[in-house]
Amino acid sequence: MNKFFSLSLLLSASIVTHVHAQRKTIEQRVDSVMKLMTLTEKIGQLNQYSGREVTGPASDRKNYLLNDIKNGMVGSMLNVKGVKDTREIQAIALQSRLKIPLLFSLDVIHGYKTVFPIPLAESASWDLSIIRRTAEVAAEESAASGIHWTFAPMVDIARDPRWGRVMEGAGEDTYLGSQIAKARVLGFQGDKLGGVDRIMACAKHFAAYGSSMAGRDYNPVDISKQQLHEIYLPPFKAAADAGVATFMNSFNTLNGIPATGNAYLQRDILKKQWNYQGFVVSDWASIKEMTPWGFAKNLNEAAEKAIIAGSDMDMESEAYKKELEKLVASGKVDVKYIDEAVKRILYKKFELGLFDNPYKFSDEKREKKVMNDPKYKDVARAAAQGSIVLLKNNNAILPLNKSLKNIALIGPLVNAKRDQAGSWVVYADTTNIVSVYEGVKQKVKNAKLNYTEGTSITDTVTSGFANAVNAAKNADAVVMVLGENWDMSGEAKSRTDISLPGKQEELFKAVKATGKPVIVVLMAGRPLVFDSISAQADAIVYAWFLGDQGGNAIADVLFGDYNPSGKLPISFPRNVGQIPIFYNFYNTGRPVTKPTDIRYKSAYIDAPNDPQYAFGHGLSYTTFTYSDLKLSNTNPQKNETVKVSFTLTNTGKVAGEEVAQLYIQDTFASVVRPVKELKGFEKVKLKPGESKQITFELSPEKLSFYHEEKGWITEAGEFKVMVGTASNDIKLKSSFELK
Ligand code: BGC
Repeated sequence: MNKFFSLSLLLSASIVTHVHAQRKTIEQRVDSVMKLMTLTEKIGQLNQYSGREVTGPASDRKNYLLNDIKNGMVGSMLNVKGVKDTREIQAIALQSRLKIPLLFSLDVIHGYKTVFPIPLAESASWDLSIIRRTAEVAAEESAASGIHWTFAPMVDIARDPRWGRVMEGAGEDTYLGSQIAKARVLGFQGDKLGGVDRIMACAKHFAAYGSSMAGRDYNPVDISKQQLHEIYLPPFKAAADAGVATFMNSFNTLNGIPATGNAYLQRDILKKQWNYQGFVVSDWASIKEMTPWGFAKNLNEAAEKAIIAGSDMDMESEAYKKELEKLVASGKVDVKYIDEAVKRILYKKFELGLFDNPYKFSDEKREKKVMNDPKYKDVARAAAQGSIVLLKNNNAILPLNKSLKNIALIGPLVNAKRDQAGSWVVYADTTNIVSVYEGVKQKVKNAKLNYTEGTSITDTVTSGFANAVNAAKNADAVVMVLGENWDMSGEAKSRTDISLPGKQEELFKAVKATGKPVIVVLMAGRPLVFDSISAQADAIVYAWFLGDQGGNAIADVLFGDYNPSGKLPISFPRNVGQIPIFYNFYNTGRPVTKPTDIRYKSAYIDAPNDPQYAFGHGLSYTTFTYSDLKLSNTNPQKNETVKVSFTLTNTGKVAGEEVAQLYIQDTFASVVRPVKELKGFEKVKLKPGESKQITFELSPEKLSFYHEEKGWITEAGEFKVMVGTASNDIKLKSSFELK
């Protein structure tokens, strides 16, 4: 054994010992508190309430909530924020007999004071370091504002753009989603809980919420065990492995059992198989909702089913508060379930250091300093730039020349501020958001900007079209900014029609009819359908909702100060009828091999099978070539890792970033396998003419799949290896035979 190796072994052994020792001390401290607690006080720790009523204007609920806090009947509050309020409420909790501090939680989803791109947008960057960085900043700001815990990241795989919450996740792919889950958890939490600039993360919604039937929010989920394990669970496992402090369960049923009352999910998989040590919070009133589901007769039975199934904390159902004591008295609930839940929660309070200093996160000076730190603007701009996806760029119409004299800016989102923040903004001052108009103005100070809305987002009239057409006729360049408004996506914002709302597509056609080339910037919280724009626009920039620096980042892309590098994390359908549509589908027994011959093939007679824009697609202002694919072994054993290497070269004239993607296909197996599965990616920046050798590792784990009876297995046989620039644009191919 060489010196370095033995030293690193020793070091890792001592880290493990240290972690164990630390766990033991915290466990001892938890036990010592538990010994002092009455059953009522234990149950108190399991309740979480929203603080809107407590800190806002007086409400009926205010008094009794404050009393509950004083009596030690509340373990955590959500929606209380700011040093002043968190201090005030914590002080009330410290009047309780055992003085157990509260946990303050909030939905810090894509930034706190600084608004970053919505999570789906940021996922389009495929840039794990910027994704981690924005979560870090969100943690820094919210922690300085008294928050201990965010309900993020949402790691639900979502393959249905009708579902409004698609904006909150990382898109359709399990591998990409797992990497992003890890990056976000590490960003929020750091390597270890307890720092004053980090907060606890929460992997939600456990599980399979993204598969809500027909894309309608809160709907049932019916999927095979194989789908559950292969597609939906891995990002949760990745979050757990990254040390995520908490999990949140979900509103949906999973194959007939509400997730909140689902022992298979919460006990068998999460707490036993994964040996997860954090705690599970219910989703908002999801315990109570097991009654309308028809799974629990009343609140009493709902509480019983939830605690037995492993839901540790009750958000806003009042089920545990009202029913658990009775359930223990009647013998229906063993007190061991309550003890276990309380221990998990107290453990986190100790880990955060709240028993040592309950006001640790509530420091006014820090709040002032952190909240106005100008360096966060740069993070927001970099994140926004990287999130933009250039879908189309005919005749290299983009980037625009900065010496243009007369630019028409047309559309309802040209001046949008609030919309660019997207859903889930909990604190920010959205008037600070840079609009596209402002971004462009800043970039080309001497150009005349002719701005006209043309139509509003949801208008049904066309009276503004004439102005728009005139502006276009007189311009050197025409940029249209169209899309959804911010609250057309997000929770409870499912749509059956995901085309551009109102008359926007007609406005586009009217402007295009002038004969001028038209550049379209689209903003939305989901993939939209925009047929005529896809067919006729000269360039399409997909800008999602990019947060504070959106307008600057868009202007950077339009005028070439930033070379677009985003790639779609989700497929864009041609029409709603294709949904669900995703790149890693099964071949079927009757695949379409020639698009001109679809008779008795798995096809539609009125539209192609493939999406409008494929997963992984995104253009650049430069060109890249892929060459020289090599496999380290073409006949590996099942326990061996295969290295896949190739050369990427920037063959264009400007510097740029490429997201190189590795896909595999297990060609024959005892369970049919998808035509392609993403197993590696790297975002690489190259100067013109520069090359880089890239190596991906295909570990045995990446070659395995879930078998309903046998669990995760790997089977011998051929694996195809594909390297490319998008799921539908493979540049290099090879294969190996697993022994
Ligand atoms: C959402 C969760 C969120 C919670 C608290 C629920 O409606 O589903 O994602 O964390 O509310 O705001």
